[in-house]
Amino acid sequence: MQEGNHRPEEFGTAVNGVGSSTDERMADGEGPKTLTTRQGHPVTDNQNVRTVGSRGPMTLENYHFLEKITHFDRERIPERVVHARGAGAHGYFEAYGKVGEEAIATVTRAKLFQQKGKRTPVFVRFSSVIHGAHSPETLRDPRGFAVKFYTEDGNWDLVGNNLKIFFIRDPLKFPDLIHAFKPDPVTNCQDSERIFDFISNTPEAIHMITFLFSPWGIPANYRQMQGSGVNTYKWVNAAGEAVLVKYHWEPKQGIKNLTQAEAEAIQGKNFNHGTQDLYEAIERGDFPEWELCVQIMSDGDHPELDFDPLDPTKLWPTDKFPFLPVGRMVLDRNPLNYFAEVEQAAFGTGVLVDGLDFSDDKLLQGRTFSYSDTQRYRVGTNYLQLPINAPKKHVATNQQGGQMMVRVDLAPGQDPHVNYEPSSLDGLKEAPERGKEHTPYAGGNLVRATIARTNDFKQAGERYRSYSVWEREDLIRNLVNALSTCRKPIQDRMVEHFTKCDSDYGQRVMSGLKAHPNGKRVKEGLHGPIGNTGSQEAVQEAERKGHPAKPY
Ligand code: HEM
Repeated sequence: MQEGNHRPEEFGTAVNGVGSSTDERMADGEGPKTLTTRQGHPVTDNQNVRTVGSRGPMTLENYHFLEKITHFDRERIPERVVHARGAGAHGYFEAYGKVGEEAIATVTRAKLFQQKGKRTPVFVRFSSVIHGAHSPETLRDPRGFAVKFYTEDGNWDLVGNNLKIFFIRDPLKFPDLIHAFKPDPVTNCQDSERIFDFISNTPEAIHMITFLFSPWGIPANYRQMQGSGVNTYKWVNAAGEAVLVKYHWEPKQGIKNLTQAEAEAIQGKNFNHGTQDLYEAIERGDFPEWELCVQIMSDGDHPELDFDPLDPTKLWPTDKFPFLPVGRMVLDRNPLNYFAEVEQAAFGTGVLVDGLDFSDDKLLQGRTFSYSDTQRYRVGTNYLQLPINAPKKHVATNQQGGQMMVRVDLAPGQDPHVNYEPSSLDGLKEAPERGKEHTPYAGGNLVRATIARTNDFKQAGERYRSYSVWEREDLIRNLVNALSTCRKPIQDRMVEHFTKCDSDYGQRVMSGLKAHPNGKRVKEGLHGPIGNTGSQEAVQEAERKGHPAKPY
């Protein structure tokens, strides 16, 4: 008997010859492209349900209809709680075998970096953060830049954003940050006042806000933007010694950002332009490429710096900590199916390989719990058995059961009764040590406390001064538009923060608010997505310009 294209040993079950669309076993009259149900029944009528007479009623035993419609009813899984809108592509990472000009083995023993020219397959998902799965790709929002490296040692996920810093440094604040930016729970519309109410009470966010409301808050597309790991990680060498490391992806296509007005015009024509741009570039062979650079600092708290190296609201100055290239990434293959490969993809900051490690960055540790937790809910307990998430190497675990288990991770020769460890029978065994373990010392009182060197405004002021004239104008215009919808105490607190960054920054926002055509505060009615201009006019315009039609 022909076994179909799945062999029982691949699944670790006694189920023989599981069928699939490439199976050559056919019913009478069936060909390779004949439509079947998931039960393998050839479908002879896909146009008409079974009814009593041609006008109905319909009968309940319509198995084909029930299978088709109930599957359809369940086509969606919960969308990501953040980063719901995204696009993905496959490709490879190619190592330089060096970090800058040095041999990379001195700082990390991670295998994927060691040998010049070594290629590791990758899957990348780009995203926006706040709005739902089909929201416009022109919105003012950070962009996600998540990379899954399928290394020979198992998966490594580098889950980053386009901007190199973040709004907050304590993970306890993340749900509040996201609630403030997400649509209002009553009106379901994004509202600047809620955002700035939160931000004005969160001074560590001003550096990020200074990026987000400038043209850097709307990247032109996914190909022409940077990526960054944002959090500080560690690299560990064969001797178990660690350094602190930050990751940066630099696009070979160059960097391009949009002003608010340009983004609004593009949105009027196409709200999927980022996804379309990525897909079409890869289809025409114009493969996007990024160089991976790292910044390295010796392990420790570095009291000589005016910021904490683990603070994700800060940049590491490049004159002291230069970008050192370690490899390049090319995206050269589109997904065959969006849902299977992009929607079900699951990235997490806890997914590291030997030679990479976590720092004590609290935000990173909070994230590391959150990702796999949400994925067990969003995708399911066995999300790591899905092809897009499974490592491209040997997997043998004692994990059992759970919804949608498609295989038993049984090793060849493993006694199937022994799904526990340790065992003196033929069970799975621990792997040998890979190198000396990195064993950082941690000790101190348990406290709830902010870090010492908060320094919330200095780098934001530097960023403001570094902008060219048009960037600064766009920043002020966007902030004034968004803040004009806020109550006076919120406006005043924001002006105070901007003034602490740079007196000109504060002054310009303040005079912008005073001169705003809508007066000091225009809270009557709702406001559109942050930074959007004329959202109220749009509502009125729709009523005024709409063409009357007669009922029929
Ligand atoms: C405490 C802080 C944070 C928490 C708790 C958090 C939590 C989450 C959660 C729950 C998801 C949805 C994951 C899924 O459903 O698969 C997500 C997605 C994501 N987060 Fe975070 N996040 C945090 C901060 C950050 C930061 C700082 C960055 C950037 C470095 C970031 C980048 C991303 C990206 C790129 C995705 C989308 C991944 C994908 O494409 O599937 N997040 N985050």
